[in-house]
Amino acid sequence: MCGIVGYVGYRNAQDVLLGGLSRLEYRGYDSAGIAVKARSMGTSSTQITVSKKAGKLAVLAQELENSPLTGCIGIGHTRWATHGLPNDANAHPHATEDGRLVIIHNGIIENYLSLKEGLLARGHVFRSETDSEVLAHLIEETYRGNLELAVREALRQVRGAYGIVVTHADHNQIVAARTVSPLVMGIGEGEMFLGSDVPALLPYTRNMIFLHDGDMAVLSQDGYRITNLEGVEQTREVTLIDWDAEAAEKGGFDTFMLKEIYEQPTALTNTLMGRLHDETGEVVLDIALEPAGFERIHIVACGTAYYAALVGEYLIEQLARVPVEVDVASEYRYREPLVDDKTLVIVVSQSGETIDTLEALREAKKSGAKTLGVINAKGSSMTREVDDVLYIHAGPEIGVASTKAYTAMVSAMLLLALWLGRARGTLNAKMGAELLHGVRELPRLVEESLQPERVAHIKKVAEKYKDSRDYLFLGRGVNAPTALEGALKLKEISYIHAEGYASGEMKHGPIALIDSNLPVVVVATESRLLEKTVSAIQEVKARSGKVIALVTDGDSMASRHADDVISVPRAHEMVSPIVNVVALQLLAYFTATALERDVDKPRNLAKSVTVE
Ligand code: AGP
Repeated sequence: MCGIVGYVGYRNAQDVLLGGLSRLEYRGYDSAGIAVKARSMGTSSTQITVSKKAGKLAVLAQELENSPLTGCIGIGHTRWATHGLPNDANAHPHATEDGRLVIIHNGIIENYLSLKEGLLARGHVFRSETDSEVLAHLIEETYRGNLELAVREALRQVRGAYGIVVTHADHNQIVAARTVSPLVMGIGEGEMFLGSDVPALLPYTRNMIFLHDGDMAVLSQDGYRITNLEGVEQTREVTLIDWDAEAAEKGGFDTFMLKEIYEQPTALTNTLMGRLHDETGEVVLDIALEPAGFERIHIVACGTAYYAALVGEYLIEQLARVPVEVDVASEYRYREPLVDDKTLVIVVSQSGETIDTLEALREAKKSGAKTLGVINAKGSSMTREVDDVLYIHAGPEIGVASTKAYTAMVSAMLLLALWLGRARGTLNAKMGAELLHGVRELPRLVEESLQPERVAHIKKVAEKYKDSRDYLFLGRGVNAPTALEGALKLKEISYIHAEGYASGEMKHGPIALIDSNLPVVVVATESRLLEKTVSAIQEVKARSGKVIALVTDGDSMASRHADDVISVPRAHEMVSPIVNVVALQLLAYFTATALERDVDKPRNLAKSVTVE
C-alpha cells in the first residue's frame, strides 16, 4: 500500500526516485522520503543522506528543490500509515543511529513489538513509532560487512508482510526482499531499478521481473541476483511490459479517474479480445479450468471487486445454473466456509495484492478448492497462487476509485457465465448467440454513454445535488449491485454518505430516511422488473423524496415520476450493469469535483489494501 522505488546506476538517483514515486503516489501518500548515497565532499568515503517529510510528495520535492541530494544509488518511499501518525519522524526511509544503513518498507511487521523490546534492551535508540524502523536496527545488529547476509539473517526473525529495500554507505548495491507486499525489478543497461509497481519504472525500462514471495534480490550497476531467504539462487522470468509510459499517465485528462472512465470502451475491447468466436457463437477463454469439474462456486473479493462478484453471481446462476455464494474476503477467510475439491473459488481483484482476498484464497486452497483469479495486474501475488487466471486486461488503473477495472471485471464474469453455460449445456446456442451479440456491443454502448451531451447533463445533475448530506441508491435484479457500486463511488471520492439497496428492500427500513433533502438514485433501466422499480420511485415521491432516475433511452415509464432523469443507451438486461454504471461513475466524479475533492487520491484510501 506504500510506494517504493530503488535505483542503482549512473543517473542522478534523486530524479529517478522522485519521478518513480510520483507515479506511485496513489499507493499511499501521507508522507514521503528518499535516501541517496553520495561521496562525502573532498574524501573517498561515502555517506547516505536522508530527506523525508510528512504530507504529499510535493512537500518533499519542495524540500529537495532547496537542498538537492546527489548520488547514483538511492531508495525512496511514499507512505500510507499503518503504525504511527503521518509525520516527518515516522516517514520512511529509516536509518540506523550512525546513518550508515537505511531501509524502506511496505507491509506490517506483526512481531515488531517483541523485536523492539529486545532491541531497546540492547541499547538501540528509536526515532519513530513505526514497526518498520525495527528492520533497520535488526539489520544493523546482523551486519558484519556483508549486507545481503545481514538482511537475510534479520528477516529470519521477522513475521508479517514486507517489501523491504536496504542500502548501506559501504556498499554500491541495494538489497530487496518481499513477502506479501509486491516488488518489481526493472532491468536497464548499467543500471537497475526497483518499484512496488510497474508505472514507476516504465520511463526507463520495459524488461521487468516480478519478485515472488520469499525472494531476495541484490541489485548493482552490473546486474542482479535473486535468492530465497535460505540463500538458494532463484531464476525468475523477465516480463516484457507492453504498457507505454503514457498509459500510466493522465493522457490529457484532469485526473487518472476521468481518464480511466473514458478508457472503458478500450479496456472492454481488450477484455473481450480473442474471447468471442462469432463463427461458433461461443466464448473461448484462455484458461485450463474444466467447466464440469466442480459443483458449486464461491466468489470472494473486497470493495468494488465484491460488487462485480455479486453481478457474477446473478449471471452465473442464471446462465450456467451453478450454485454461487459470494462473500467479502475479510469475512470469508474466518467463517470456515464449506469448501472441498468440488468447490471452485474465484477471487476477483484489480491489484491482485489485496491481503484479505489473498489470505481468503490461501484458506480456500488449504481446503482443496479449485481456484480461479479474475485479476487485472499481471505478475501480482494472486496470479501466482491461483490454479488459473482470467486476466481482465483493463490496463493500469491508477485512480484509487476503481472504474474501468470494475466494468472489465463484470464483463469477465459475463464471459465466464456464458462459457460455463454453453459448456454445461444450460445455455442453448440461440440464447448464447443473442447474449454474445449483447456482449460484442459493450464497447460501443459504453462509448455512447460517454457522448458529450450525456456527460454534460450528468454534470448538471451532480452539481444540483452536490450539497446533499446523504444519498440513497436503489437497483433491482442484476442491477442491485450497480446501486451498491454507485453508492461506493460517490462516498469514496465526494465523502458524502451514500447507501446502496435492492429497491425491493426500501420499504423494509430505508424508507424512513426519505424526505425532501434526500436524493434517491434509482436504476430504472429496461428490465422485466421495471414496473416494480417504478413502484419504488412512486413510494419515494409520495414522501417528498427527490428521485434521480437512470432510464433507458426512450423510456416513458420511470421518467415521468422522477425529478431528474439520466438516460443511458439500450442494452440487453444481462449486460446493462456494465453500461449503467458509467453514468453513476460520472455522477460521483462530478459531485466530487464540484466539492473540490482530490479525486485520484481520496482521503484515508489507498489503491491497494495490502495490510489487514
Ligand atoms: C474501489 O473503488 C476501492 N478503491 C476499493 O473498494 C477496491 O475495490 C478494493 O480495495 C479491492 O481492491 P482490488 O480489486 O485491488 O482487490
